Amino acid sequence: PKYTIVDQETCIACGSCGASAPDIFDYDDEGLAYVILDENKGTAEVPLELQEDLEDAFDGCPTDSIKIATSPIIIEMV
Ligand code: F3S
Repeated sequence: PKYTIVDQETCIACGSCGASAPDIFDYDDEGLAYVILDENKGTAEVPLELQEDLEDAFDGCPTDSIKIATSPIIIEMV
């Protein structure tokens, strides 16, 4: 299984991920991306049919803010 989360500390609100994977990423009031599936908690499995979109978004993020892991992700959100 794949899990994903956006590191909003480094996201520059470029808008690329939501274009690549509109069913996974959306933007908050400040334009920062978050994962729709689990409100950016990193705990929801990405559905199989969305994993290709996820890879595209991962590859397209200019700041490497999209994290992907095979188990639920815990990162410190300040
Ligand atoms: Fe941010 Fe990267 Fe998406 S900079 S808006 S997480 S493509």
